[in-house]
Amino acid sequence: MDHSSPSTGKRRNLKLNFDTVRFTAKSPTECFTAGHPTQIERLRSHSLEQTGKLNISPEESYEFTADDLTDYGEIGRGAFGTVNKMFHEKSGQVMAVKRIRSTVDEKEQKQLLMDLDVVMRSSDCPYIVQFYGALFKEGDCWICMELMATSCDKFYKFVYSQNETIHEHILGKITTRTLKALNYLKESLKIIHRDVKPSNILLDRGGNIKLCDFGISGQLVDSIAKTRDAGCRPYMAPERIDPTASKHGYDVRSDVWSLGITLLELSTGKFPYRKWNSVFDQLTEVVKGDAPQLPHSENFSAEFVNFVNSCLTKDETLRPKYKDLLRHSFITIYEAKQVDVANYICDVLERMPTRVPINDNL
Ligand SMILES: Nc1ncnc2c1ncn2[C@@H]1O[C@H](COP(=O)(O)OP(=O)(O)O)[C@@H](O)[C@H]1O
Ligand SMILES: [Mg+2]
Repeated sequence: MDHSSPSTGKRRNLKLNFDTVRFTAKSPTECFTAGHPTQIERLRSHSLEQTGKLNISPEESYEFTADDLTDYGEIGRGAFGTVNKMFHEKSGQVMAVKRIRSTVDEKEQKQLLMDLDVVMRSSDCPYIVQFYGALFKEGDCWICMELMATSCDKFYKFVYSQNETIHEHILGKITTRTLKALNYLKESLKIIHRDVKPSNILLDRGGNIKLCDFGISGQLVDSIAKTRDAGCRPYMAPERIDPTASKHGYDVRSDVWSLGITLLELSTGKFPYRKWNSVFDQLTEVVKGDAPQLPHSENFSAEFVNFVNSCLTKDETLRPKYKDLLRHSFITIYEAKQVDVANYICDVLERMPTRVPINDNL
């Protein structure tokens, strides 16, 4: 069922958002002083709230504004925004809403909304977080997505704080699913993630492992990060920190590096570099220093160590791409292995303190 007005198709509706944003930002007083009835009518009908389209499933969509969402409280906070649990009454859907400051110009905003359309149509990969829709409000972009129980960063920090480790079986499933998600984004949606890190790999009680923060969110972050230093992107590959080192544009292999750092962190319980005091520190260590490596140990198979370390190949031209990694023996082993991920995640979540009760079913 489509609860939006019959005349507004998805693409048209998204475009309308921007007409509205531009309209309200530049000319409300102009409209009133001009007193033109059609302009006033236009202002009234669109109101000052920006509308978006919420696609709960291919059969169920709604037009929505920020006022249609009830805030249940903050779930998390990143360097560029906050994530809250919210409820959309008309659909009965509970969701995670990420609010991120939008510094992009009008042209980039239009592009983002076109990209968003692509992401919204893609619910056929079980390893990416479902994206419901987005709108712009008062200079913020609100991104509505599937609510998960927790993220890998919070999860691993809790596990290691209990003097426990994450077993390779679980790491194997996290790796295969994240790799498949990244490959799906690249092959099916033509998207490069650009922000692979533990907090962007989400988990739920059903044992699902899903990648988030690609597309619109990634691009907004990228655009904010351009105005800041690289120091706030600690998972960034050497060739990204020092772009003079890389002759090409963004390549999937930069995400392969970030995956390597992520796996090293999840398997050892520590971010592999010391705390940097400045961008210069980061540049020196990541660009000039040796790549961090996972040492061989009795805790991990030779396949896992080899997989992680090959992701951390310093020279990006020698670093594997997804198709090579998908053929790696570590992936073929763990694709076939039966692992009770749900049971393990539930056991840890039972013991983990949560700021906002997520949902007993997640
Ligand atoms: N869809 C989601 N479901 C549940 N928790 C989420 C979701 N998206 C993000 N979070 C939580 O919110 C936190 C902040 O997210 P974000 O703003 O993307 O910052 P970052 O990824 O840099 O930590 C994450 O660490 C994660 O724990
Ligand atoms: Mg994130």
